[in-house]
Amino acid sequence: MGSLRGISVAIFAVQALLASVALVSAQGSTNGSRWQTLSGNAPFVIAHGGFSGIFAGSSFGAYSLALLTSVPNVIFWCDVQLTKDAAGICFPDVKLDNNSDIATIYQGQEKAYLVNGVSTKGWFSIDYTLKDLGNVILNQGVYSRPSRLDGNNYPIMTVQDTYTQFKPPGFWLNIQHDAFYAQHNLSMRNFVLSVTRNVNVTVDYISSPEVAFLQSIAPRFQNSTTKLVFRFLGQNDVELSTNQTYDSLLKNLTFIKTFASGIIVPKSYIWPVDANLYLLPSTSVVLDAHKEGLEVFASEFYNDVPFSFNYSYDPVAEYLKFVDNGNFAVDGVISDFPITPSAAIDCFAHLSKNASKQAVDLLVISMNGASGDFPGCTDLAYSKAIEDGVDILDCPVQMTKDGTAICLSSINLIDSTTVAQSSFSNLTTTIPEIMQGSGIFTFNLSWSDIRNLTSVISSPQSAYRLFRNPRFRNAGNFLTLSEFLATAKNASSLQGVLISIENAPFLLEQGFDVTDAVLNALSEAGYDKQTAQTVMIQSSNSSVLVKLKSKTNYKLVFKVDEDIGGAQNATIDDIKRFASAVVISKDSVFPENTAYVTGVTTVVPRLQAANLSVYVQTFSNEFTSQAWDFFSDATVEINSYHVGGSINGVITDFPKTSDRYRRNRCLNKGNSTPGYMSPVQPGSLYQLITPAYLPPAEAPNPYLTEADVVEPPLPPVAAKSPTSSPPGTPAAPTSPNGQPKFATSIIVPLMAVLLAIFSLF
Ligand SMILES: *[C@@H]1O[C@H](CO)[C@@H](O)[C@H](O)[C@H]1NC(C)=O
Ligand SMILES: *[C@@H]1O[C@H](CO)[C@@H](O)[C@H](O)[C@H]1NC(C)=O
Ligand SMILES: *[C@@H]1O[C@H](CO)[C@@H](O)[C@H](O)[C@H]1NC(C)=O
Ligand SMILES: *[C@@H]1O[C@H](CO)[C@@H](O)[C@H](O)[C@H]1NC(C)=O
Ligand SMILES: *[C@@H]1O[C@H](CO)[C@@H](O)[C@H](O)[C@H]1NC(C)=O
Ligand SMILES: *[C@@H]1O[C@H](CO)[C@@H](O)[C@H](O)[C@H]1NC(C)=O
Ligand SMILES: *[C@@H]1O[C@H](CO)[C@@H](O)[C@H](O)[C@H]1NC(C)=O
Ligand SMILES: *[C@@H]1O[C@H](CO)[C@@H](O)[C@H](O)[C@H]1NC(C)=O
Ligand SMILES: *[C@@H]1O[C@H](CO)[C@@H](O)[C@H](O)[C@H]1NC(C)=O
Ligand SMILES: *[C@@H]1O[C@H](CO)[C@@H](O)[C@H](O)[C@H]1NC(C)=O
Ligand SMILES: *[C@@H]1O[C@H](CO)[C@@H](O)[C@H](O)[C@H]1NC(C)=O
Ligand SMILES: *[C@@H]1O[C@H](CO)[C@@H](O)[C@H](O)[C@H]1NC(C)=O
Repeated sequence: MGSLRGISVAIFAVQALLASVALVSAQGSTNGSRWQTLSGNAPFVIAHGGFSGIFAGSSFGAYSLALLTSVPNVIFWCDVQLTKDAAGICFPDVKLDNNSDIATIYQGQEKAYLVNGVSTKGWFSIDYTLKDLGNVILNQGVYSRPSRLDGNNYPIMTVQDTYTQFKPPGFWLNIQHDAFYAQHNLSMRNFVLSVTRNVNVTVDYISSPEVAFLQSIAPRFQNSTTKLVFRFLGQNDVELSTNQTYDSLLKNLTFIKTFASGIIVPKSYIWPVDANLYLLPSTSVVLDAHKEGLEVFASEFYNDVPFSFNYSYDPVAEYLKFVDNGNFAVDGVISDFPITPSAAIDCFAHLSKNASKQAVDLLVISMNGASGDFPGCTDLAYSKAIEDGVDILDCPVQMTKDGTAICLSSINLIDSTTVAQSSFSNLTTTIPEIMQGSGIFTFNLSWSDIRNLTSVISSPQSAYRLFRNPRFRNAGNFLTLSEFLATAKNASSLQGVLISIENAPFLLEQGFDVTDAVLNALSEAGYDKQTAQTVMIQSSNSSVLVKLKSKTNYKLVFKVDEDIGGAQNATIDDIKRFASAVVISKDSVFPENTAYVTGVTTVVPRLQAANLSVYVQTFSNEFTSQAWDFFSDATVEINSYHVGGSINGVITDFPKTSDRYRRNRCLNKGNSTPGYMSPVQPGSLYQLITPAYLPPAEAPNPYLTEADVVEPPLPPVAAKSPTSSPPGTPAAPTSPNGQPKFATSIIVPLMAVLLAIFSLF
């Protein structure tokens, strides 16, 4: 290929990655006999254009990252396009403009051609020789994916180059458009025959959605190790050569078998979804095809395109549904994020629910129960968290007007109920000591009123149009603290409870002694006379913890409610005086800039050196809550914080994902830890951003100082005013840093409009 400069930059970039990721060495550790695939072997991972979820599809970077992070027998997928001089290149689409800078290089040379009978405008490879394409640079074609890596100048690669540079364990050529190239007198048949004759290239699979093309080459591959695969497109799309819909061809697998040994189907052919994105029962496609002796490959797996709500935004869960469901397993999955199916197949499949914990030292603490699946702090969220294997069940305590301590994610009822649409909307007030803007506060309604409010599921990523479990968005009942404790005490799998207390100084002034209410509820529930479960009490007010320290032996947890870059020794000494654990944000461990991790702070080791446990929040499954470095896969993020960041616990609204992570069989493997279970090195992706593409540098997070931690003692409890508190009453000093205590710690990645769901095909 023309661009030597591009290649050398690319190689440099890959070396940086190689240095940062442990090399894949371990052979798969799963028990082969249990797979319900056609062969009985583990399903294949097919890297769609390499790791195209991060790097430009079919680029050197994408294929390199796929090698580093996938199972050892990963298959490289290459979409073949032909140039004017009949060279085959790997490029994701028949048009070159979405995934390269050709529109800039050959400005104004857009053409319109009939593609499968549809007039299509763009830049086509048939108009350019291989030499012409030498200075065209690949870039990330999906606008919601990281574009800052595009400065690496990855050139377009030929099919041969792609093979010879990487010697991939498996190689797959997809011929999406034979008919189109034939119209332009370019023969895909000649091309694939010449490639497969080349002794230096081994092609394992050739796929196409065109029956006539596969039929034309089938005789030549009868005795070959190259397998032919028929690709199904949309069910109502019409196959060109038979003039039948793909749906009707699906009913004629005997016919498919005459020229192919396998099929590719979009994942919805196997697990269809309803209009609301909930899974319907599986179809019999896989079983039918296996009966016919056809392998089945499922396509359209993307970690960063919303999939069925049944998976709770966890892409590992989705793959497991296809490879480990007790009825069938597909023979391979085609993915833009091959790290995820690699881990799903090798580390997670066939893991019994009670498989022993490999990461015994990672505590899983819920965030408002399993609030990723149900409205936070409802009975449903709590029972789901218990069922999902949480260790510590949390209750953020709020006070009602009649002095009942209850569990609710926020002191502002608007955040978790439909109170704003109820007759209580006239209770809206503004209390600057608590939060900016107005709210309807728990202490202005009685428990009997609050208990009757309709719950609302939280949707912290709604800015990206990612919403949680809509079918249950208003389900579940709220609990008093006492009811919560009774539930928790009954759950033998729990290690304990975490009760968090916020706004205590303000509430005391209103006549509510929240710390006393908590202590009373705990002793009424018998928690002061038992050792089976740990009780943690958390606050971001040191005054609350100082007061509790003198009264109880419960484990006290200090929550740092801002992102910090470090902590002074004196501050750590202060914290030690009243707490044995600290909660910090993800950014305080691995700081980010525009959703790229830039490095690692010393906060965790410094706190741990002082014997403080470090719990980190908030671990969510939605990919928009994670840095790019974690490949839109919650498991990769958790693993990086646990193994790479050495944290002691995660605080999560999806405890199932964290608990399953602890049980996966790829942990504790030392030097033979596979790439897909190695922690991501902080800053490794950021280092691959070329200078012109770097985001503006950000000031590091501030140090945590004594002024942030030390507070005056709690005020005495005020006499309760008979009416609800007048809004805006000036209150005594709150926290010394004067910050409202309801800072949202949601990390917002800089992604453009996310739902640019587009079809690659
Ligand atoms: C696989 O599982 C079977 C039965 O479950 C067992 O007999 C066999 O030893 C296992 N093989 C390996 C390699 O673990
Ligand atoms: C690719 O290009 C077509 C038209 O040129 C456009 O409709 C489509 O959205 C593009 N895809 C992406 C991901 O930009
Ligand atoms: C293809 O070749 C045929 C016969 O050689 C010729 O008539 C036709 O014009 C060519 N078509 C194109 C698009 O070059
Ligand atoms: C195969 O590779 C060898 C060594 O690199 C080279 O000499 C030979 O020409 C190649 N053969 C083909 C058909 O490309
Ligand atoms: C395939 O192998 C069989 C038996 O070895 C032979 O008879 C047949 O001619 C071969 N077919 C092709 C296309 O090479
Ligand atoms: C394809 O099938 C449709 C109906 O099934 C028919 O109307 C159409 O004429 C057919 N086209 C060709 C080219 O055979
Ligand atoms: C299967 O497809 C072939 C080719 O289109 C056709 O000849 C045959 O009748 C079909 N069989 C059934 C059962 O539809
Ligand atoms: C998906 O979730 C919905 C709602 O919880 C449930 O009714 C349905 O049975 C689930 N589908 C599958 C296939 O598990
Ligand atoms: C896991 O649980 C099942 C029942 O839920 C039980 O039969 C099995 O013995 C358990 N396995 C282990 C290793 O505890
Ligand atoms: C709010 O409205 C209700 C009736 O909907 C009324 O009973 C109550 O007194 C009102 N409260 C205030 C503070 O205005
Ligand atoms: C709560 O709702 C129930 C049923 O909707 C109703 O009977 C009851 O009176 C309500 N309680 C209060 C305090 O509004
Ligand atoms: C802070 O503590 C660390 C570790 O205990 C120690 O190495 C360092 O010298 C201390 N720094 C100061 C300024 O005391």
